[in-house]
Amino acid sequence: MRFFVDSVDISEIKKLAELGLVDGVTTNPSLIAKSGQDFLKTIEKICTVVAGPVSAEVTAIDYENMILEGRKLAKIAENVAIKLPLIENGVRACKTLASEGYMVNLTLCFSVSQALLAAKAGAAFVSPFVGRLDDIGTEGMDLIDDIVKVFSNYEFSTQILVASVRNPNHVVEAALMGADIVTLPPNVLWKLFDHPLTEKGLQLFLADWEKTGQAIL
Ligand code: E4P
Repeated sequence: MRFFVDSVDISEIKKLAELGLVDGVTTNPSLIAKSGQDFLKTIEKICTVVAGPVSAEVTAIDYENMILEGRKLAKIAENVAIKLPLIENGVRACKTLASEGYMVNLTLCFSVSQALLAAKAGAAFVSPFVGRLDDIGTEGMDLIDDIVKVFSNYEFSTQILVASVRNPNHVVEAALMGADIVTLPPNVLWKLFDHPLTEKGLQLFLADWEKTGQAIL
């Protein structure tokens, strides 16, 4: 399973990349707005730190401008994946941009039928949003289970990029289901390290070691 980081925070991305935990990055207009950073420069910087796919989202919702914005974003670096919303124009633009050789990530996927459209349009990635489904009282991970099953019935090359991940359980369940990628906000990625028994066990070992009076170095 590949880990993408869902963030525009360069220092966090760098820290996690140094640990070998970053196979790619996803961004969205809300993350950029929250950060106050310049969008194009941020994508350029992230692409210098991460070799894997870096998703940059268009903001046009008409076909022609989606294509123009998508091509402009893809020019920033070879590893840019053009992120398009999973609406009719997004699917049309995906087909065009994918046929031109670009990586496309179809985002805001909330159903199996939408995931099928992404696969049919040649998207490199489809991003089902699990947390936002949980938020409205449905089971977000059920969607991942269904998409994994459907995609495995056929020879689609589109990868399932589990998005809107809110906690380590989403990551573990996605891995058990065989999803290709999860994109994690840095705080969720750091939480993967945590287990109270690891901390308790370490304190015990260190205390016992202290009693021996020995030193390794
Ligand atoms: C990733 O591509 C998505 O933009 C992101 O995971 C959305 O997460 P949110 O639902 O927590 O905003």
